[in-house]
Amino acid sequence: MTASKRIFLVLLGPPGSGKGTQARRLQEHLGIPQVSTGDLFRCNVKAETPLGVLAKRYMDKGELVPDKVTIRMVAQRLQEEDCANGAILDGFPRNLIQASALDELLAADGGVALVVWFNASDEEVMNRITGRRVCRSCGQVYHMMFNPPQQEGVCDVDGGELYLRADDQPETVKNRLYVYYKQSSPLVGYYYAKGLLAEVDGSQSPDAVTEAFLTLLKSHGYL
Ligand code: AP5
Ligand code: MG
Repeated sequence: MTASKRIFLVLLGPPGSGKGTQARRLQEHLGIPQVSTGDLFRCNVKAETPLGVLAKRYMDKGELVPDKVTIRMVAQRLQEEDCANGAILDGFPRNLIQASALDELLAADGGVALVVWFNASDEEVMNRITGRRVCRSCGQVYHMMFNPPQQEGVCDVDGGELYLRADDQPETVKNRLYVYYKQSSPLVGYYYAKGLLAEVDGSQSPDAVTEAFLTLLKSHGYL
């Protein structure tokens, strides 16, 4: 009897394009967890682990954390029990070195199943990021205008305090966008050449993006 294949989806797109929002929504539909490298780093920063102390130096400037530690962190995370059926990779890979490491990590599972590229303009993502608020305890993401909590500053899910991410200041966001175009956007061509790329218009409303995402997953037989 052959074990059923694990499914790995990659969400690609500029900062603020909605990767985290959609990954969180999609995990219920797919029965596989969101694995966000940004969230994993932020947990380590909060806990002041050696990895967190190192990562913070790069995150505060909007630079990528070195590949070696990032790849090791993802490799460990994908071995955890909740990834037994696969994962939704949010924010990884972020450059060609990481993409090739992921191909090796997933070789036994047939590689990445599908890459969903959220396209949105710089202006749109800037608006979204500056209005974003995140729950300090559960990580739920809000937007002050597009997706506000019921009570200002308080998480609807667990009542936690909402905060502005340290790297969401306009100057840092500009550098994150620069890093995206320079290092991450070549992945669009990389996955297109492999026949794995699907584009979703990330500038639509959150519900419309989810709808487009679900339609895409159905058309590829994942739902
Ligand atoms: P990471 O946390 O991955 O940040 P990012 O890629 O810059 O992306 P964001 O989380 O800012 O945006 P998102 O696309 O998830 O959008 P969201 O759904 O939140 O990385 C942070 C840092 O960690 C990096 O700079 C780097 O230093 C390090 N790092 C991470 N991964 C790494 C890696 N692989 N290698 C090396 N270093 C790494 O939405 C944004 C806002 O818009 C929210 O307020 C949301 O409510 C709202 N919104 C979402 N969708 C919509 C919509 N359709 N319409 C209107 N509003 C919307
Ligand atoms: Mg995110």
